[in-house]
Amino acid sequence: MSKTILVTGGAGFIGSNYCRYVLQKYPDYRVVILDALTYAGNLSTIADMQNDPATSERVRFYPGKIQDETVVNGIIEAEQVDTIVNFAAESHNDRSILEPGSFIQTDVYGVYVLLDAVKRHGLTRMVHVSTDEVYGTIDNGQFTEKSPIEPNTPYSAAKAGGEMQVRAHVITYGTPAIITRCGNNYGAYQYPEKLIPFFVTRLLDNKKVPLYGAGNQVRDWVYVLDHCAGIDKVLHEGTIGEAYNIGSEGERTNLEITHALLRLLNRPESLIKTIPDPRGGAHDKRYSVNADKLRALGWKPAYDFDTTLEQTVRWYADNQSWWREITAKPDYQAFIARFYGRYLGEDL
Ligand code: NAD
Ligand code: TYD
Repeated sequence: MSKTILVTGGAGFIGSNYCRYVLQKYPDYRVVILDALTYAGNLSTIADMQNDPATSERVRFYPGKIQDETVVNGIIEAEQVDTIVNFAAESHNDRSILEPGSFIQTDVYGVYVLLDAVKRHGLTRMVHVSTDEVYGTIDNGQFTEKSPIEPNTPYSAAKAGGEMQVRAHVITYGTPAIITRCGNNYGAYQYPEKLIPFFVTRLLDNKKVPLYGAGNQVRDWVYVLDHCAGIDKVLHEGTIGEAYNIGSEGERTNLEITHALLRLLNRPESLIKTIPDPRGGAHDKRYSVNADKLRALGWKPAYDFDTTLEQTVRWYADNQSWWREITAKPDYQAFIARFYGRYLGEDL
């Protein structure tokens, strides 16, 4: 049966990749994007879908916040939406340490508004895209969906708060919602403040890259299209009220990632600038999730890490107008100067 999916946060990194994935995989599905176009959302990120004759009729864009119930309910009625996939979030740990308020507005209250709209309009399903960071850090072994939720940063605490709204809505009202918890993503269109695109864009310009501490923190790196396929699987075959981990067994330290990027771009080790860890005690040492529950539905990662990392680096080298438009903005430069200025000095 065809679907009209409200993709909130669809002008951001993962949301836009998900829209492309859906439009390509399901020729009879429509995608309605609601995005506040914060610093992290860009119309240039979705322009290809709007301009391609194969998809332009099946994609609509609305500017607006998920906290705005008039906007959310109006779009659901006007577009006859039957499904919500929620990507909209403030998503950067470092910014959450500086200014946590907007994280609570979007990642907690906004989720409540969407859940209430699902209930009010009798929508068939909502997938809430959460993160493995809600579990906190783990030295050895892996988190399962039954592990305690122990977030350590304002970002991960806000995401955990959003999840609690989902849980309570399902139990209290029978709202048909499901949660996903994925590891760190990489791929095309990621905003250049997250580790991989931040380092790639700086290395392309022969600038130094700020590595926090010894760079020995571990992340489970998931290619963005594997994440999209996992969400797709959960949307169609997941059980209401459940949470599903999405992980690729792709664990690497930040130092390993940095060396891989230097190698791919043929840049010297001297471009690594080790800086005191700005996250301090809130810097989670290791994330690792067990994805057996999702694998039991038939999902497994389809992409090789080395190949997709190389493709990602090439994408940033080939699409410089996309990211240079962002890095030239005063708010981007102000954040980088505020956060890294005292360490990078004239290398900023
Ligand atoms: P992103 O920051 O690139 O994109 C977020 C998008 O949401 C932007 O387009 C932004 O404009 C929009 N947005 C922000 N506040 C909004 C609001 N109040 N109303 C409507 N739109 C709003 O983030 P991303 O990396 O694409 O992450 C998407 C989702 O996936 C987030 O919920 C994040 O927590 C989750 N997630 C991310 C990762 C990762 O590695 N990036 C991993 C697991 C889960
Ligand atoms: P990030 O991409 O911000 O994702 P998350 O905080 O969600 O894991 O950071 C990934 C890792 O890279 C994290 O351990 C912090 C580290 N890091 C750096 O060492 N330097 C940087 O400039 C950035 C942005 C991140």
